[in-house]
Amino acid sequence: MAVETKVSREDEFRQAEHEIYPPSPEVVAQANVKDYDAVVKQAREDLAGFWAERASELEWFAPWDKVLDESNKPFYKWFTNAKVNIVYNALDRHMKTWRKNKVALIWEGEKGEQRTFSYFRLWQEVNKFANILKSMGVHKGDRVTIYMGRVPELPMAMLACAKVGAIHSVVYGGFSVEALHTRIMDSESKLVITCDGGFMNGKIVELKKIADEAIQRSPTVENVIVVKRTGHEVNMEAGRDLWLHDLMNLPIASTKCETEVMDAEDPLYLLYTSGTTGTPKAILHTHGGYMVGIHTTLKWVFDLKDEDRWWCAADPGWVTGHSYIVYGPLLCGATSFMYEGAPTFPYPNRWWSLVEKYGITVLYTAPTAIRGLMRFGEAWPNRHDLSSLRLLGSVGEPINPEAWKWYHRVIGKKRCPIMDTWWQTETGMFMITPLPVVPLKPGSGTFPFPGVEAEILNEEGTPVGPDEEGFLVLTRPWPAMLRTIYKDPDRFVRQYWTKYPGKYMTGDSARRDADGYFWIIGRVDDVIKVSGYRLGTAEIESALVSHHTVAEAAAIGLPHEIKGTAIYTYVILRQGSVPSEELAAELRQHVGHELGPIARPEKIEFVTKLPKTRSGKIMRRVLKARAQGLPEGDLSTLEE
Ligand code: WT7
Repeated sequence: MAVETKVSREDEFRQAEHEIYPPSPEVVAQANVKDYDAVVKQAREDLAGFWAERASELEWFAPWDKVLDESNKPFYKWFTNAKVNIVYNALDRHMKTWRKNKVALIWEGEKGEQRTFSYFRLWQEVNKFANILKSMGVHKGDRVTIYMGRVPELPMAMLACAKVGAIHSVVYGGFSVEALHTRIMDSESKLVITCDGGFMNGKIVELKKIADEAIQRSPTVENVIVVKRTGHEVNMEAGRDLWLHDLMNLPIASTKCETEVMDAEDPLYLLYTSGTTGTPKAILHTHGGYMVGIHTTLKWVFDLKDEDRWWCAADPGWVTGHSYIVYGPLLCGATSFMYEGAPTFPYPNRWWSLVEKYGITVLYTAPTAIRGLMRFGEAWPNRHDLSSLRLLGSVGEPINPEAWKWYHRVIGKKRCPIMDTWWQTETGMFMITPLPVVPLKPGSGTFPFPGVEAEILNEEGTPVGPDEEGFLVLTRPWPAMLRTIYKDPDRFVRQYWTKYPGKYMTGDSARRDADGYFWIIGRVDDVIKVSGYRLGTAEIESALVSHHTVAEAAAIGLPHEIKGTAIYTYVILRQGSVPSEELAAELRQHVGHELGPIARPEKIEFVTKLPKTRSGKIMRRVLKARAQGLPEGDLSTLEE
């Protein structure tokens, strides 16, 4: 099973080291941060002072004693003893200014319906929702699982939870039964908020049906709130399931609701993500530091202004959406746009028509989307007036220079700088990223954000030289950093802080060129980034093994033209089962049903043996090398 890639992506990246795109005078003139070197220097010399200044741009119920408490590393604390609520800053605060009547959110459904919310209206809706939560007995610290499509009620549900001090756990609407079930169970949610369904690619996604299957086996769930989106018939369990629109009409759903006073370090949300081994882990973020981190990064990197129309085309179910669809834009008082459906529905110009129709000024998306749209040719975007755009962004995986240049030339008309932001669910905020005034190189995230310090180390922990590949680590704490893995602090320490004591292990490899620019290469652990989505080999393998015909399975990621990386799997069947095309199709289907369509393997190959170490660990490295016809490296630990 040899895999071909069109060009060597590595060569493509190396060439781009010598191409520089300086910022235009117009970009510099309007930038929120003009003196880049000065802010980098300030943050380097006085980290606490730097972040205290940023924190002072927001409102606190009570001030902090200390900006950064390092007494119990790696359990860092930020803004200790300060009292705050992120929702107060995202919504309540704006009721005191002219922004009360500003548009907060514009939404378009896949079928073309539109809804618009001013800050006032959004605040009222969230207050009503929060009162409903309270009346249902949802209190500070309780966990609520949210499993929805991209509709305005999704951010509202998150904000309502945070407003009452509950901890939301959003599960991406593209995930399926097993993925949802394990997340509900691990978080011990007593409430699930979902939709009757969602529209995607002209079809209905059966969210409620999937939720029912998952909840059936989840004893902690007492109630389910259902948002009506598609209007098609769904099962409503008497005594358990309630329609949101019915609840919103009850007298209890008043438009006024006190915002819970939280400690800066109180949990805001859990977000499950794939790690090196085992089940997905819940990354925990808090109210105070997270708020400061995402407010600053969004304002500085995407240069947000009151006149902007911001479109982060991710899904709210991922960290990108949490930080930069829901919380960040509202903290900045921005107007954002949200689109429900697929980029190519009904035609490949849908996104470009939305940019034109809503006058989008800043667009933030993923390389896989750019490569996917690139495939349809320039004629589609060229039919539209894209002159409102002034900045572009990329996230989720390395953007290859070819896609970068297409995005820059065809979409940005060579006027719009591209902010390639490297970060993670764990980091909460952008970590390695340009600001608009930084000269760009196609495919490089340039430099760490002010206050962030990164190093590239070899196996022994020594920094590698220029242009050498190594492990990317972060050496200074930042306010939006994860605080722990929910219910598993040991795993938090082991996974991130042990390999290089005192330094945060990102799981990525990277190199720095002679000019100091960072180039992210990719994951060095068992995480696969498929179309920018993060999946673990362990999840895919256990989904396969849960099928009655499968004895053993191995999953690896291999280069893919559009998806960046695609999932390839090797399966050993149980005795009595025979390999066939039909069985391969059934297994792909099975993984899709268990985990979700994004996890469906590109290819399933039936084998009779897997390369393993003597201790029984699958050597995915060997599988990967073999599939690509590359040298297999050191095989001394191979079992035979
Ligand atoms: C992993 C984290 C944080 C937003 C979405 C992903 C990869 C992310 C970039 C980028 C190269 C990137 C890394 C990272 N990644 N952004 N701009 N350039 N790689 O969050 O799902 O937690 O995934 O995504 O491999 O470790 P996530």
